[in-house]
Amino acid sequence: MSAPITMSAPARAGADEPRIRIRDLTVRYAPGEPLVLDGIDLDLFCGETVALLGSSGSGKSTLMKTITGFAPITSGSVRAGDFDVADLRRGQLRSLRSHVGQVFQQFNLIGRLSVLTNVLMGALHVAGPVNMLGTFRAADRRRALELLDRVGIAHKADQEARSLSGGQQQRVAIARALMQNPRAILADEPVASLDPTMSRIVLELLRSIAREERIPVLVSLHVVPLALAHSDRIVGLRHGRVIVSGRTAHLDADQLAPVYETEDEEAA
Ligand SMILES: Nc1ncnc2c1ncn2[C@@H]1O[C@H](COP(=O)(O)OP(=O)(O)O)[C@@H](O)[C@H]1O
Ligand SMILES: [Mg+2]
Repeated sequence: MSAPITMSAPARAGADEPRIRIRDLTVRYAPGEPLVLDGIDLDLFCGETVALLGSSGSGKSTLMKTITGFAPITSGSVRAGDFDVADLRRGQLRSLRSHVGQVFQQFNLIGRLSVLTNVLMGALHVAGPVNMLGTFRAADRRRALELLDRVGIAHKADQEARSLSGGQQQRVAIARALMQNPRAILADEPVASLDPTMSRIVLELLRSIAREERIPVLVSLHVVPLALAHSDRIVGLRHGRVIVSGRTAHLDADQLAPVYETEDEEAA
């Protein structure tokens, strides 16, 4: 039997080994359709927050989905920890997904359940559904409360999730992701439904998590100033290709403008 695959850094890996490594990735959803991603190279290192910029349809969500095996890998490779994503059996895919925290624009909470229960759902990735009948372990409950405290909404633990504001709901979703002890976090437009103040709070929270948990956070955005203010690196996608990539401190809005140029501007 082969050794179990994990997303922890293997003993042989150096500290500079990326947790996620994407090489020459192409994605086509169906034969005969155009490439949605075309020749993507991307490394995500522990401790860093990488902003993925691109207009609607540029391939941001697809890129994130390839990391968890939710989008087809037509050619090239995607490695997440020890997982070779193109080559996983169903059980291994489940294991990979249990290690990757995901955050979405629409929060994806169960509205009629309490905030605390929603956070505890993150533990089900690890424990399986056996505890669904109201019997989460006391240790899990303690941890869920700690995480709610960390994201600043412990006082809402017993409220129905749907009674919270958008920004509060997104923080519940982040606490839920942390409940998985994630080895990476993928946040797909996590602030697209939030006002500017709450966007800043949520993005700084994600960034502090990357640093403190020593995990990579990949966050897709479509607002340039937010990417410039809240990331360590920026990758700009256009029509499925990386057209800008660099350390945030070395980039400015002008250098990122081509990511959002309309076809008219391009032709001009
Ligand atoms: N499941 C799918 N099947 C077929 N085409 C898809 C699917 N998901 C996305 N696409 C197409 O892939 C392209 C990129 O989409 P997406 O990754 O969602 O971009 P973004 O997140 O940047 O808006 C779009 O042209 C979209 O229509
Ligand atoms: Mg998207």
